[in-house]
Amino acid sequence: MTRRDYLQMLGVAAAAAQAAKSAPAAGDATRAQRMKWWHEARFGMFIHWGLYSTLGRHEWVMENEGIPVAEYELQAKKFKPKPNFARDWARLAKAAGQKYMVMTTKHHEGFCNFDSKLTDYCAPKQGPGRDLVKEYVEAARAEGMRVGFYYSLMDWHHPDGARCATDEAARRRFVDYIHGQVRELLTNYGKVDILWYDVNWPLKPEGWEADKLNDMVFQLQPEIIVNNRTGLPGDFATPEQRITADSRPWESCMTMNDSWGYQKADDNWKSPKTIVRNLVTCAHDTGNYLLNIGPTADGSIPPESTRILTTVGKWMERNGPTIYQSETCQPRRSQFAGFTRKGNTLYAHVYFWPGDTIAIGGLMNKVKSAHLYAGNKEVKFDQDKFRLRLTGLPEKAPDDPATTIAIECDDVPRQDTDYIRKERPRDKA
Ligand code: GLC
Repeated sequence: MTRRDYLQMLGVAAAAAQAAKSAPAAGDATRAQRMKWWHEARFGMFIHWGLYSTLGRHEWVMENEGIPVAEYELQAKKFKPKPNFARDWARLAKAAGQKYMVMTTKHHEGFCNFDSKLTDYCAPKQGPGRDLVKEYVEAARAEGMRVGFYYSLMDWHHPDGARCATDEAARRRFVDYIHGQVRELLTNYGKVDILWYDVNWPLKPEGWEADKLNDMVFQLQPEIIVNNRTGLPGDFATPEQRITADSRPWESCMTMNDSWGYQKADDNWKSPKTIVRNLVTCAHDTGNYLLNIGPTADGSIPPESTRILTTVGKWMERNGPTIYQSETCQPRRSQFAGFTRKGNTLYAHVYFWPGDTIAIGGLMNKVKSAHLYAGNKEVKFDQDKFRLRLTGLPEKAPDDPATTIAIECDDVPRQDTDYIRKERPRDKA
């Protein structure tokens, strides 16, 4: 088979796959509109913050250490956040190149960071003496961030939170409580961009009356998007601590160390390089990356998180356009780079810099030009049927944690390493 035949075959297959992917299902028109900003945003900040932050031993401490409700509740009086805590969060998110934030309004522990008429176990009526969600919303908006609310359905504090599974009267009370709180959250804080449900234990979507819940959500906030953790599909999937592309919109949520909530002793921090690589991996398959911070009891961001996000943000300042609004990218094979794509341009994000020459195998397009993306410096290249070689590069990586090279092709970039394996001449003559 000639290369051209081969390309044609690939082209047809790619066009067919693309068409199948983008064919809208019935009723998806408003979804596409609602989700446009989110797809373009690519990178968000997750914030886990609650009473567990005062203990500093992970957000599951109440359950994992078997702490009695009455004993745990004492933390509510000790929770005394500093003024303007959320400003630093929002400023850091902006500096990191993140476009939206999602804060725990209530985690599994049941404590509400917002003002609720339905319980006294909420920030304004306990230690904080004020509405922490309100401060978060104001700070996020001031930095131009989209605003998301995480809300845990599972509740370890509410008297009906477990027995609702076996007692209908308890279920009725508990589901009314949950729906009522979601109503408060989506009524009292202006426009909310994302509702991020979590853990639907111990009920099924029917038990939660999740359809009815989402109907109310869209009635209150017609432009909102919701995730899939009621057990219904919602608008997007939420792979956790892993990056798995999905045929539907998806967002990978991940910790920066191994804990969502503040855990003093957790020093297993990911490097800025790992974060950039993860972001590139998400962008490769048009997924989002929701990266967590776990502030301390007073709302301070752990210094390691600030350091990592600041480095990532500087990289995003130079390379952001190759990540935001990137399109599905087929090439993926390299031992030192991740790829993203926009139109006919392939971006190779080289995180292990090999030195003077960088080669990419099986690129099936004719390359028209190559540039170091940051600074737009031209890169020399040569190309045969099997290999693209970028040459005359500096010995040391020009950028850190990754150097992005823009490779402009004559068509949508495609890579086929099988082509090399099959067609590369094996005789040495
Ligand atoms: C899990 C954990 C929870 C965390 C969430 C984030 O469901 O239970 O602690 O908030 O993941 O995705």
